[in-house]
Amino acid sequence: MRVAQFDRYGPPEVLYATTAPLPVVRPGEALVRVHGASVNGGELTMRAGKLRFLLNRRFPKRIGIDFAGEVVTAAEGVAGPKVGDHVWGMVNKWRGGAIAEYVAVAPRTLSRSPKGVDLVEAASLPVGTTAITALRDHAHLKRGERLLVRGAAGGVGSIAVQLGHWMGAHVTGLAAAGNLDLVRDLGADEVFDYRTTGPADLGEFDVILDSAGTDLRAYRRLLAPGGRMVAITVSSPADAAYLLASAVFGSRRIRFFAGNPTNALFAELTGYVESGAIRPVVDTVHELGDIAEAHRALERGGVRGKHVIRLANA
Ligand SMILES: NC(=O)c1ccc[n+]([C@@H]2O[C@H](COP(=O)([O-])OP(=O)(O)OC[C@H]3O[C@@H](n4cnc5c(N)ncnc54)[C@H](OP(=O)(O)O)[C@@H]3O)[C@@H](O)[C@H]2O)c1
Repeated sequence: MRVAQFDRYGPPEVLYATTAPLPVVRPGEALVRVHGASVNGGELTMRAGKLRFLLNRRFPKRIGIDFAGEVVTAAEGVAGPKVGDHVWGMVNKWRGGAIAEYVAVAPRTLSRSPKGVDLVEAASLPVGTTAITALRDHAHLKRGERLLVRGAAGGVGSIAVQLGHWMGAHVTGLAAAGNLDLVRDLGADEVFDYRTTGPADLGEFDVILDSAGTDLRAYRRLLAPGGRMVAITVSSPADAAYLLASAVFGSRRIRFFAGNPTNALFAELTGYVESGAIRPVVDTVHELGDIAEAHRALERGGVRGKHVIRLANA
């Protein structure tokens, strides 16, 4: 099968497509033929070597976390999707390897993908589990509340805007100037260019979802009494320190989590898509051989939704 991998940490050019044996399917795992897999911000960080202290030293390393595809061998002895089912899910994020023609995964992180959504486009959506976890489980967003989404045109943000709108919040999106139209289309009530509009120009919010990870202190100050802020990334040691120190603010601390979605959460995401609450937002579909360009494109900035790698033509 064809896979994407790299032999050393470095710039996008270290990535290449090659062939490898089919994955070994362990007891309790299903074999999935992948149609599409997305490119995540965290994978750029991993490829660049910034997470090397968390990873083993072995190379080559595979890349990619979430995928959409079709079950070719069902997991034996475990309830879950059957042969031929269209599914989405994720591989172990520390091992990677979703950008491959086949993956072996346990049904624990596998669920039926939405009907009527092409599997390559569907690959843009699994990161929506992060938006659900952030807005519902950590921020407890309620109808009528004022929600600010930083990074509103990005992979997580573009889904958070849709979900926030569907949950009945008044959504404000911060994004690059060229993406304000997209963010408004996704359901934001107000949109601002983050390069010309700073925290001082924005007013108060009940919930802030931060997918930029910068200036956390300045944004936390925008919380109304009883407000909740969730950050899904930190971009500097100072922001990391502020996030940790924010625990002293009690209920107004900045909440942080590392997503570890189960099949129940993926199934819920399927429900949101089938009900029309969330739709895929695909910036570009890249062929596997263009994996380095896909990373370069996300690094350049200005992303509109997700970059997706096509592994199979349906
Ligand atoms: N904790 C978790 O479980 C979890 C899960 C998923 C992702 N993450 C992390 O969360 C981050 C976002 O993920 P993603 O997939 O959404 O990344 P992404 O697609 O690259 O989106 C990030 C967005 O943030 C925007 N942005 C950058 N600087 C900004 C600023 N100062 N103000 C407002 N917006 C700004 C970017 O705009 P430009 O394109 O104009 O730069 C881009 O639209 C990544 O670091 C990722 O690793 C964490």
